[in-house]
Amino acid sequence: MLDRRSPSRRRLASRRQEPDRLVVDGGWINGRSTGGVLRLHVENRDARRSEYDRIQFTPRPGHADYTARVRYGPTADLAGGGIFSGRMTVGLVAAGAVAAQLLEPLGVRVAAYAEEIGGVPAEVPEGLDWTEIGIRRDSNEVSTSDPKAAPAMEQAIAVARRVGDSVGGVVAVRAWGVPVGLGEPFFDSIESVLAHLAFAIPGVKGVEFGAGFAAARLRGSENNDPFRWEGDRVTTSRNRAGGVLGGLATGMPLTWRIAIKPTPSIPRAQQTVDLRTHQAATIRVGGRHDPCIVPRAVVVAEAVTLFGLADLAFAGGFLP
Ligand SMILES: Cc1cc2nc3c(=O)[nH]c(=O)nc-3n(C[C@H](O)[C@H](O)[C@H](O)COP(=O)(O)O)c2cc1C
Repeated sequence: MLDRRSPSRRRLASRRQEPDRLVVDGGWINGRSTGGVLRLHVENRDARRSEYDRIQFTPRPGHADYTARVRYGPTADLAGGGIFSGRMTVGLVAAGAVAAQLLEPLGVRVAAYAEEIGGVPAEVPEGLDWTEIGIRRDSNEVSTSDPKAAPAMEQAIAVARRVGDSVGGVVAVRAWGVPVGLGEPFFDSIESVLAHLAFAIPGVKGVEFGAGFAAARLRGSENNDPFRWEGDRVTTSRNRAGGVLGGLATGMPLTWRIAIKPTPSIPRAQQTVDLRTHQAATIRVGGRHDPCIVPRAVVVAEAVTLFGLADLAFAGGFLP
């Protein structure tokens, strides 16, 4: 999972070399946890301060430089984006990989893919299973499970990069095997827990479950998913609810989406302010930035889903 997040092997990602080698330095012996605290860490070996020193008094539009400087003061270390960097998601992914193993006895499987990049939509049939979504997604540079859309998405990123700009998009997540009733009432519904985690991912600007915002334009008769018997299981004949009713799992696939904004750091000239002189300023952000965050955020979305569901499985007594 860490390899899927790393920019090192992606042509269309940041040119930083981040092999993201995982070190397990506690709580683990011979492939099994000891029951103590599992401590994982990844070193950041390819950090360059100079670009950040150059722009420290001219906050990047769209990034956290301005808000962080006001909140934490001039001594805050914002090199590489500081705690607001996409690099922080390495920890989310490591936790997700552990959670995937915790969820195995329940048969929970999670797969995410890029559903839209730079306005180019992907079409991924609802019936596709976990393995097939993964195989398709890992066969292209942009982590989409629609092989037909991949070239146009790659093109959208390449064009944006060429003109010194960036693009955003949407990550879709599906989870199978979530036991009926999983989720805690009121504050810790499946939607609350997953949305809370989604907004820890830098650059996320919206979330939607099932039909999401489109449900606002449907009638009850169109939006309700009719129940039916499938053998001795209750299922629904469609899944506009995205596998959640009342914050609890219906047993249908959990489907949700995350909207990701275009990368804020772009080489194009942008208007900003100089915090020393109180004058207007123009900024061109150099450094090695992703022209699109989406392909690398796919595995992060998968990871937060995994550990959100694992937490809820423990809370609800679905796991011992
Ligand atoms: C995997 C990943 C990689 C990212 N890479 C970059 C990047 O190269 N350059 C950049 O400006 N922002 C990048 N971001 C986004 C910023 O960290 C984010 O936009 C910034 O912290 C402001 O937070 P906000 O967009 O959530 O308001 C990345 C985010 C993720 C999840």
